[in-house]
Amino acid sequence: MARVKTAVFPVAGLGTRFLPATKAFPKELLPVVDRPLIQYAVDEALDAGIESLIFVTGRGKTAIEDHFDVSYELEATLAARNDFETLALLQDIRPQPGQVVYVRQMEPLGLGHAVWCARNLVGSEPFAVILADDLLHPTGGALNAMIDEHETTGANVVLVQEVSATETSRYGIIDPGERSDTATNVTGIVEKPGPGDAPSNLGVIGRYILDPSIMDHLATTPSGASEEIQLTDGLAASLKDRELHAITNPGVRFDCGSKIGLIEATITIALERDDLGPQVKDLLRRLG
Ligand code: UTP
Repeated sequence: MARVKTAVFPVAGLGTRFLPATKAFPKELLPVVDRPLIQYAVDEALDAGIESLIFVTGRGKTAIEDHFDVSYELEATLAARNDFETLALLQDIRPQPGQVVYVRQMEPLGLGHAVWCARNLVGSEPFAVILADDLLHPTGGALNAMIDEHETTGANVVLVQEVSATETSRYGIIDPGERSDTATNVTGIVEKPGPGDAPSNLGVIGRYILDPSIMDHLATTPSGASEEIQLTDGLAASLKDRELHAITNPGVRFDCGSKIGLIEATITIALERDDLGPQVKDLLRRLG
């Protein structure tokens, strides 16, 4: 099996749940403490051995390109002030030259369409899809396990977690089949089913390892739930020629596409930090 060396980061969504904050500012740059969501996602990919980063961007998202670029004025000013610690921090988060490419999704027609927009850059090798607004904590374990599963079996792989019966209409929900030592075989997958129609309570969260043949399915996937071209529907179509395996998220996932999820991630991660934890604990105690 080919190694998974490429990750696609769809960042072209409108982020309507965070308006007006996201009117002129990408949702994926919202910070959790002092790092943007997309930075956590990129670090997770690089830690898992990903070498090429493909961003599917859209209008109003150029700040993401700037975030991963050299900032001459800022860096020159920090150097002139002898603030080499902050300078090193900026240099550390920068990918290697040539490691990142950007493609535009001209209209936000859905996650499936965003992934399909990367088809020429992905080429003929398997790739990861990482949604920055699903922040995994700790990062790392899940993506490594998913890559191993793909490299061993050749299956497409999704990451799942249990969701409550009232939440199935917010997720892609899998129909689970037999379990192996490492994963569950998926016999069906449906986007945003109501509680009565959901085949299980296992919801897909924002990590996928995909064979490039998914692009052919996405090319013909019609609009589905929410009038968007859904990656879930492309995966459902691909079941006839490739297995789909689900790995259960071994850690915590914060839904940072929602306000409460972003707040929860911020408090949790701040509490864990040596420089902030005691103050945040004190603050929470005072607020009751
Ligand atoms: P969401 O479903 O969270 O949609 O997308 P959204 O538009 O970003 O946010 P809301 O629901 O309006 O608040 C999940 C991921 O897929 C990307 C988003 O940028 C996000 O990272 N996406 C979604 C695209 O790249 N293109 C799309 O057409 C839709």
